[in-house]
Amino acid sequence: MADLKRFLVPWIDQVTPYGTEDILLAWSRPELKRMMVNENPIPPSEKVIRAISEAARMGNRYPDNGPRLRAKIAKLYDLSPDNVYLSHGSSEIIDMVMRLFVTPGDEVLLPNPTFSLYGIRARAVGGKVVAIDMTPDLQYDVPAMLRAVTPRTKVIIVCNPNNPTGDFIPDEDLQRLIDLGIPTLIDEAYLEYHPEHESKAPLIRKYNHVIVAHTFSKAFGMAGIRFGYALADETMIQYFRKMQIPWNTTLLSMAAAEAALEEEEELKKKAAYNNAGVEYVVKELSKISGLKPYYSHGNYVLIDATDAGVTGKEIVDYVFEKAGVILKSFAPLRGRNGFFRISLGTHEENSICVSAIKRFFENRKKEA
Ligand SMILES: Cc1ncc(COP(=O)(O)O)c(C=O)c1O
Repeated sequence: MADLKRFLVPWIDQVTPYGTEDILLAWSRPELKRMMVNENPIPPSEKVIRAISEAARMGNRYPDNGPRLRAKIAKLYDLSPDNVYLSHGSSEIIDMVMRLFVTPGDEVLLPNPTFSLYGIRARAVGGKVVAIDMTPDLQYDVPAMLRAVTPRTKVIIVCNPNNPTGDFIPDEDLQRLIDLGIPTLIDEAYLEYHPEHESKAPLIRKYNHVIVAHTFSKAFGMAGIRFGYALADETMIQYFRKMQIPWNTTLLSMAAAEAALEEEEELKKKAAYNNAGVEYVVKELSKISGLKPYYSHGNYVLIDATDAGVTGKEIVDYVFEKAGVILKSFAPLRGRNGFFRISLGTHEENSICVSAIKRFFENRKKEA
């Protein structure tokens, strides 16, 4: 056996892979309710499915880089197709940004909590993650982020709205980060749920260090199909092309995305369905004393149970055991250990989940 350590990149042991245990569990037991990875509970439309099977007929051919689809996406933002890079979900954009800008020992500045993949992909290239705790009311602590900038800061992450806290960064705070001139990834993975909030895409006209990422995994409901895109200045997109793996998006995923873009009403319906679920969960859980749900602009709701005297994990374990619902607990933040997140499911699943949480607290009251 070869001594792999002699050959491996020396920082490999600092990488913990993205945790997919819950997804494995959910696929192996379809009766479980998957409310842990911010999926859309509504399956793709017939039109999208037809587009995929039609594209499959040409499956013996290599895809191009989607000029027609790039033009359609560009039009949504009044940009040029040269400002658009199609990707294998927005995860690829996150990875791309790290590979382009981060060398071993360089720093990636991000808020805490946020989507875990940023840190994972930063570490995969030897980067150091500088995670700045959000304020007690779970807003970006921009003064602390600015103080944390060093000559080695190579990437700044702005998840907007942030996963799992659900809120947007104020424009003036975003501007202060952008004014640093450091490559900044604005991840708008959930923006299609709230189109009344404008994309930050226009910033790319003025700033060649800003990258805006979108995905079809959330409001479009195509997480398993894998499609996303980045918007950036042409020169930035050219660097993406140098670094990219060719044929990163399949004929099937591009056909699915093109079909989905034509179904504006379907997207609106999915967003409205989700947003009604968010309202319901927030309203119902607010009734439980000591439980604080954070209103979210995404397809998830973060809840803090610390003041009720329980940990997030206790609730997540109970709901799994009693109701077959998979949720996600979060690491303590500022000494508070009650955080857990509900990814919205169908209305029925949301109701099952809420009832189970209510039962958890009723039982505690009885025991007390
Ligand atoms: C903020 C954020 N960005 C990106 C992603 C990854 O999405 P994709 O499926 O597009 O790779 C997620 C997934 O949960 C996310 O929460």
